[in-house]
Amino acid sequence: MTQDRYAVAGNPVAHSRSPQIHALYAAQTGEPIVYERLLCPLDGFEATVRAFAAAGGKGCNITVPFKFEAFELAEHRSERALLAGAVNTLRFNDGEGWFGDNTDGAGLVRDIERNAGLPLHGRRVLLLGAGGASAGVLGSLIAARPAQIVLANRTVDKADAIVERHAQWAAEHGVQLSASGLDATGGGFELLVNGTAASLAGAAVPVPDGVLAPGALALDMMYGAAAKPFLDWARSQGALARDGLGMLVEQAAEAFEIWRGVAPDAAAVLAALRAEVG
Ligand code: ATR
Repeated sequence: MTQDRYAVAGNPVAHSRSPQIHALYAAQTGEPIVYERLLCPLDGFEATVRAFAAAGGKGCNITVPFKFEAFELAEHRSERALLAGAVNTLRFNDGEGWFGDNTDGAGLVRDIERNAGLPLHGRRVLLLGAGGASAGVLGSLIAARPAQIVLANRTVDKADAIVERHAQWAAEHGVQLSASGLDATGGGFELLVNGTAASLAGAAVPVPDGVLAPGALALDMMYGAAAKPFLDWARSQGALARDGLGMLVEQAAEAFEIWRGVAPDAAAVLAALRAEVG
């Protein structure tokens, strides 16, 4: 049986868990796919991905730092990709041009609602950071209809710009959306999502103590050692601390379904990875 080829394209990609996750989904569903790593030179993303497609590749995931370039290469884009301004999933449709989607936000929302058991409807949400990670998930967070989302960033102008781009989407979903600095977020948040790179930079968690409601969920989009300072801080605040492993597994499930039309069982794969990652 021929196997369809997929890959994760990025720089670096050696650490990526996507090949493992998609191999588990393929085994689960019986879909005949292989999933590789595609290391792209920093100035050679387009050439590398086009060569992969020409060699029979059917689609790819895109990771740092190429999600914006992938957005430009997609001839058709989903609404959530348009809101994010970034693409993490490409499907190379024969003859119809490439389709670009962004499954990061849906993965985050599914992990929060399904795996962590926190329905977002009517909640108060604080999203930290205004880089690609936060911009990529805000549209999906809004679509889950929380009561309020505050987007807080060290550089407030960047948060303002993202809020402006999502203003109409928020109004359509009845979500009160605003931008703020890190010290002026207000309090009582039932969900905190960390989309900053502060812990990678070795800096402290960039939000004052006391912003969380009792029993809040505090989630870092990173996992492994990079998430540890945030998770420690979250526990010190009495919050339920969660890393980004569930989001990773869920966004991969969504991509798998876009390519194959079959929804894999993400929870089973998350449990298997959790046993490894801790
Ligand atoms: P990514 O694509 O991973 O989101 P990015 O676009 O470089 O990466 O964004 C990094 C985010 O982390 C930004 O919101 C950045 O804040 P600024 O916009 O003010 O630069 C935030 N960040 C990085 N280091 C930080 C720190 N030490 N304290 C607070 N925020 C930090």
